[in-house]
Amino acid sequence: MAVSDIAGAEDAAAAIRAAGGKAAGFVCDVTDEAAVLRCAADIKARLGPIDGLVNNAGAYPLAPIEQTDAAFLERLFRLNVFGSFHCIRAVVPDMKARRRGKIVNVASATFHAPPPMLSAYVATKGAVIGMTRSLARELGEYDINVNVIAPGLTETPGVAEAPFGDEMWAGVLAAQCFKRREQPADLVGTVVFLCSPASDFVTAQTINCDGGMGVH
Ligand SMILES: NC(=O)c1ccc[n+]([C@@H]2O[C@H](COP(=O)([O-])OP(=O)(O)OC[C@H]3O[C@@H](n4cnc5c(N)ncnc54)[C@H](O)[C@@H]3O)[C@@H](O)[C@H]2O)c1
Repeated sequence: MAVSDIAGAEDAAAAIRAAGGKAAGFVCDVTDEAAVLRCAADIKARLGPIDGLVNNAGAYPLAPIEQTDAAFLERLFRLNVFGSFHCIRAVVPDMKARRRGKIVNVASATFHAPPPMLSAYVATKGAVIGMTRSLARELGEYDINVNVIAPGLTETPGVAEAPFGDEMWAGVLAAQCFKRREQPADLVGTVVFLCSPASDFVTAQTINCDGGMGVH
C-alpha cells in the first residue's frame, strides 16, 4: 500500500508495517498537479500499477459567509476538489489500460446534514459527490468503480485541532443511531469494501458511514 501525504506519510506507513501490513510512504501535495503526477509515477515504479485510489486529503475550516471570500474558496476547492481531480487523472490512464480500478472519494455526511459555518466545505463535498457520479458513468465501460464514502464527525487529529466543542459533539450524538463518537477505525471496513472485489458491481454511490446520522 502507498500512503501519500503532504506530511507524515512515512510515519503512517511505519505504523501499518508495525501492525503487520505492507506500506510505503510518499510525500505529495495534492494541490500541485505536477507533484501528483510525479508521485504516481514514483509509486508505480516502486510498488507496481495503482489499482485503488482513496482521495482523503481535505480540510474543513469553519467560516461565516462574510469570511468566505474568493481567496478562501479557492484555497479550499484547490485542496478538497482539485486535489481529487489531480489524483484521479494521475491513475486513470493505467486503470483504463488494465481495465480495473477502484476510486474512493471521501466526502462528508455534512452534505446530507449540513451544519452552519461550513458552506464552503459542504460545497466542496457536493462537488466531490457530483464529480463521482459523472465519472462513474464515464469509466464504467472500463470496469473502473468510482464511489464516495461520507463519514460523520470523526475523532481525527484534524477534528481535535478544530474548534468543534462539546456542543457540536452532543448534537451529532443526538442525531446518530449509535451513541458514541465515530473513530477513524469505523471507516476502514467501508473503504476496504469499496476497494475490494466485494464491491465490483457498486459504482456512482455515496455510502454514509456516520453511525446512522443521515438516512438516504
Ligand atoms: N474528521 C471528520 O469528522 C470528517 C468528517 C467527514 C469527512 N471528513 C473528511 O475526511 C478527510 C480526512 O479528514 P481528517 O479529519 O482525517 O483530517 P486531518 O486534518 O486529521 O487529516 C487530513 C490529512 O490530509 C493531509 N493533507 C492536507 N493538505 C494536504 C495536501 N495539500 N496534500 C496532501 N495531503 C494533505 C494532512 O497532512 C492530513 O494528514 C477529509 O477529506 C475530510 O473532509 C472528515
